[in-house]
Amino acid sequence: MKEVVSLKNAGIYQEGVKVLSDVNLSVSQTEFVYLIGKTGSGKSSLMRTLWGDLPLKEGDGQVADISLSKLQAVNIPTLRRRVGMVFQDFQLFPQWSVAENLRFVLDATGTNDEAEQNKIIREVCADVQLSDNINKPVHQLSGGEQQRAVIARAVLNKPQILLADEPTGHLDPETADAILQLMRRLAVEYHTAILMATHNTGVIERFPGRVYKVGNGKVVEMD
Ligand SMILES: Nc1ncnc2c1ncn2[C@@H]1O[C@H](COP(=O)(O)OP(=O)(O)OP(=O)(O)O)[C@@H](O)[C@H]1O
Ligand SMILES: [Mg+2]
Repeated sequence: MKEVVSLKNAGIYQEGVKVLSDVNLSVSQTEFVYLIGKTGSGKSSLMRTLWGDLPLKEGDGQVADISLSKLQAVNIPTLRRRVGMVFQDFQLFPQWSVAENLRFVLDATGTNDEAEQNKIIREVCADVQLSDNINKPVHQLSGGEQQRAVIARAVLNKPQILLADEPTGHLDPETADAILQLMRRLAVEYHTAILMATHNTGVIERFPGRVYKVGNGKVVEMD
């Protein structure tokens, strides 16, 4: 199976400070992989490196056929078409409707054709069960609905991989499970791999996947 993420002997840095050393990690097409670890261990830093937000200064990295060590600003839009990201904090524009939030991303990374945009927005909103809320301002949605809008935004361009940073952190356990189920269904329908960071190890029993543990400046695959 083709690898959509591959880090080899990578160093992960925040502002010149090394957060993780000698990281070896891979995610294959359509695979579901967890990144678990305590708060401050470096999960978000690793994900932001894969998203082209923090530079890869040490080791080798490939994401969706793009080299991270040779990544230049001009390649970032291509990377972000191929890689979806669900951030730890929602980062939706609260005064804008769901459709406006999605259109903003399509303008930046996808198509500018309005009819095509409307079609994609309608389809993705149906897939995450937000069809009735497309034109509502985001601040009028519940936390779970907002998180579904965030996931819709991340899969607009049918990415090869979805990076989900603590996607259920703000949600009650029942809604969190529904979000996990939604992500797993989308992964199958969109042929998307998922790398999900969480400190909630309980989800792993209910939704099995390969697990990497982040801690003490290292990333270790668990059996
Ligand atoms: N913007 C930043 N500038 C400098 N240092 C940062 C920045 N963001 C995080 N760090 C530091 O990098 C280290 C790893 O943080 P990171 O956010 O990657 O951890 P995390 O595993 O995602 O934690 P959490 O579970 O709380 O989200 C921490 O020591 C943190 O203080
Ligand atoms: Mg984090």
